Amino acid sequence: MIQRIFSIVLWLLIITGPSEIGAEHQTSLTFNDILPEDHKSYDKMRPPKKEGTPTTVFFHVTVMGLDSIDETSMTYAADIFFAQTWKDHRLRLPENMTSEYRLLEVDWLKHMWRPDSFFKNAKSVTFQTMTIPNHYMWLYKDKTILYMVKLTLRLSCAMNFVIYPHDTQECKLQMESLSHTTDDMIFQWDPDVPLVVDENIELPQLALVKNYTADCTQVYSTGNFTCLEVVFVLKRRLGYYLFHTYVPTCLIVIIFWIKPEAAPARVTLGVTSLLTLSTQHAKSQASLPPVSYLKAVDAFMSVCTIFVFMALMEYCLVNIVLGDTPPPKTGGPNKDDKMYERNNLSRNSFTKRERDNSTDGGVPWIQRQENSMLLNAPQPVVPVPPPVTAAGAPEKPADPTKLTPAQIRLRRAINIDRFSRVFFPFLFTVLNCAYWYMFYEYL
Ligand SMILES: *[C@@H]1O[C@H](CO)[C@@H](O)[C@H](O)[C@H]1NC(C)=O
Ligand SMILES: *[C@@H]1O[C@H](CO)[C@@H](O)[C@H](O)[C@H]1NC(C)=O
Ligand SMILES: *[C@@H]1O[C@H](CO)[C@@H](O)[C@H](O)[C@H]1NC(C)=O
Ligand SMILES: *[C@@H]1O[C@H](CO)[C@@H](O)[C@H](O)[C@H]1NC(C)=O
Ligand SMILES: *[C@@H]1O[C@H](CO)[C@@H](O)[C@H](O)[C@H]1NC(C)=O
Repeated sequence: MIQRIFSIVLWLLIITGPSEIGAEHQTSLTFNDILPEDHKSYDKMRPPKKEGTPTTVFFHVTVMGLDSIDETSMTYAADIFFAQTWKDHRLRLPENMTSEYRLLEVDWLKHMWRPDSFFKNAKSVTFQTMTIPNHYMWLYKDKTILYMVKLTLRLSCAMNFVIYPHDTQECKLQMESLSHTTDDMIFQWDPDVPLVVDENIELPQLALVKNYTADCTQVYSTGNFTCLEVVFVLKRRLGYYLFHTYVPTCLIVIIFWIKPEAAPARVTLGVTSLLTLSTQHAKSQASLPPVSYLKAVDAFMSVCTIFVFMALMEYCLVNIVLGDTPPPKTGGPNKDDKMYERNNLSRNSFTKRERDNSTDGGVPWIQRQENSMLLNAPQPVVPVPPPVTAAGAPEKPADPTKLTPAQIRLRRAINIDRFSRVFFPFLFTVLNCAYWYMFYEYL
């Protein structure tokens, strides 16, 4: 019996005790407690306008992540905390509210007026519900309501690739009012901290160089609709393209002039270079949508392709100039072989002696041979054997003043080749300098 009385007293203490210590913390709040006394007077479809001025909703955005920038679909993904703050003077404060703010049930928003903002350029919005739905609502002492929500957005971003890969893209995050014109509601950035962007955002190909907030209020036929936007300025890093596109392409074009005398090597290299270039070109825009305009990288690649093609053509021209001579008895249409045959020189003996005795200032032996033949000067090392009349073409290389037609053609061909070997690399260097000078400001 005593025990029972004791437990009843204890029970009474437990239920009455706290109410004496801090009533406002313990009384559970119902939605009706914050509605005005006359529930009918609260119209949740009407914004809380005070003296006819439009309701101001303050925005704050914290960007926690930017990723998955996709050029093909022109979209990117963002992880944000999105906070909206507005003052609803019609609400009643819970009694004896001593703390700065109080957490409210988010479900009550369905029965209250709330800003009808939507993400204008969003393709999809993911609201996370783990471990609990990621949003909350606070009621401040001055009847201000804060609604905060964490979202993952897939946003569209119009991109222009005219100067790709030197481009800078501006990607936006726009929030507009769905049904309230500026007469009823306006959005404004939080005066203290409108936007916070995580400093550690790392993107594989682009660098976040700037972020700012702006107003994008739109005029429609139905009226003006308030809109706010966050702008991310993303600049493409050139490193990837420098090492995967520009340097290899230049090397391919340069390699073409390394050994102009060797016909098989030259033709093979030319064709291989053309193929490699087209592979490089395809690779350089694997991640891009097939745009119809000319991009900077296209221009560069096209010029490189033209260079390799022209080098092949130049070789053809040299061959055509040489080509009218009677076909050689043996071997392919090698210019060097023709040279030797015409002068009736033994290639082996010539090569051997010259290579063993390389004291001529490092000038390649074949070039020296060309020089000596062009000028028709007496051979410095190997004296030209006395002209022996062949069965076919009679030649008189010993005559210093008169050149046979074959020799004139040879001379012309060699001149074309020699000129090209200087002119093409020179032109390529000039064009390269022009290209990089043009895009210097975008680096
Ligand atoms: C609120 O506080 C006042 C005194 O400040 C007190 O008289 C009243 O009973 C309290 N109301 C509630 C519901 O606790
Ligand atoms: C965003 O902009 C602010 C102010 O312009 C700047 O201080 C901040 O460093 C920027 N953040 C990033 C990640 O660029
Ligand atoms: C909409 O905005 C334009 C200027 O941006 C202004 O001239 C016009 O009066 C506005 N209309 C309304 C209905 O507020
Ligand atoms: C180089 O040529 C000179 C004559 O021009 C000759 O005397 C010498 O033996 C040659 N040297 C070699 C390594 O063949
Ligand atoms: C080339 O020279 C060799 C001797 O070195 C001679 O037997 C041959 O007939 C010559 N051929 C021509 C086409 O002059």
